[in-house]
Amino acid sequence: MAQVFQIAIDGPSGAGKSTIAKMLAAALNIDYIDTGAMYRAVGYKMLREGISLDQRDALKAMLDRTHIDFRQGETILDGEVISQAIRTPEISKMASDASAFPEVREKLVALQRAMGEEKSVIMDGRDIGTNVFPNAKYKFYLTATVSERARRRWLELKEKGQEAELADVEADIITRDHNDTVRPLNPLRKAEDAIEIDTTNMNGEQVTQFILNYINKN
Ligand code: DC
Repeated sequence: MAQVFQIAIDGPSGAGKSTIAKMLAAALNIDYIDTGAMYRAVGYKMLREGISLDQRDALKAMLDRTHIDFRQGETILDGEVISQAIRTPEISKMASDASAFPEVREKLVALQRAMGEEKSVIMDGRDIGTNVFPNAKYKFYLTATVSERARRRWLELKEKGQEAELADVEADIITRDHNDTVRPLNPLRKAEDAIEIDTTNMNGEQVTQFILNYINKN
């Protein structure tokens, strides 16, 4: 049987991680795990249950009765498909805040490791190459300028019919970059052995092709 391996894709919001990870998963015929969606699921459930960031006991109790899964590309929270519902600016912020708590990270990282150890996966997030799978066979770190990342997120929102000002989207991205890089626990950073790709002037096909070429040669 072929050896199980992991491909880690990390980087800030809007750098193109999920687009690239989906294209790679299709090209390599392996599973894609969107770890950001898992933090979003926690943020979504906190908002729905009215649990605020200072209610740590309620948060812990909630985590104990939370089940997150992926099925056919959909994110499933306690049996309910939430793939679309978690893509709002409000949940982006809540997910980023909730992701700083040790109890949240502990639960989700354990789940991520279990998912990536049973079969080969592409996993994207902030700490995959540094913390979840430090021994991943392949590690990539995607970046792009703040204005380009904001433009991409704004276009995404617009395509979904959500009204947003580009300046607000850019401000959100700056806040989240800050949150995600300064938190003490597994902050966003490039693993020393990750290949960094600046996607500012590249489209999805170009980035995917670059990564596939690298994988074929290594
Ligand atoms: O990738 P995303 O925007 O869907 O992620 C939402 C938030 O979840 C992000 O602001 C930080 C957090 N996150 C994290 O802390 N660690 C990960 N591996 C993935 C996401």
